[in-house]
Amino acid sequence: FTFDKKHSKLAADIIKKYPAEGKRSAILPLLDLAQRKYHIQICTTTPCWLRGSDEIVKACEQTLKIKCGEVSSDKKFSLVEIECLGACVNAPVVQINDDYFEDLTNESIVEIINKMKDRKKLLLPKRKAMIGQDDPACHA
Ligand code: FES
Repeated sequence: FTFDKKHSKLAADIIKKYPAEGKRSAILPLLDLAQRKYHIQICTTTPCWLRGSDEIVKACEQTLKIKCGEVSSDKKFSLVEIECLGACVNAPVVQINDDYFEDLTNESIVEIINKMKDRKKLLLPKRKAMIGQDDPACHA
């Protein structure tokens, strides 16, 4: 895995915050930065499957022009099938990064993905207190 130019700068800024003898401690915020792409996890366990998760998978694959297990050519999206997310009552369910999207339809998941495609910036977690108030990763 390599960071692009912008994220290399963010990674360098994160590493700078750690003392020389503790640079290895930057691994967690660096891994967090590395996974800040849209990771789409579609639940395909029985309750979600009964409520149309197969169609959600197809809609995602067509919209992103990738298959499950792949990453989009711009490396902004990854797509996987997963087991139960524990929100079966609102099936079908998809987790994208830290958020759950429930009671989905083909139309609603395509709308969600298209909104994410249009964003210039990736959604980043609100963890300023955890990795520092002035952490550039929180403002990318
Ligand atoms: Fe999909 Fe439980 S089966 S959330």
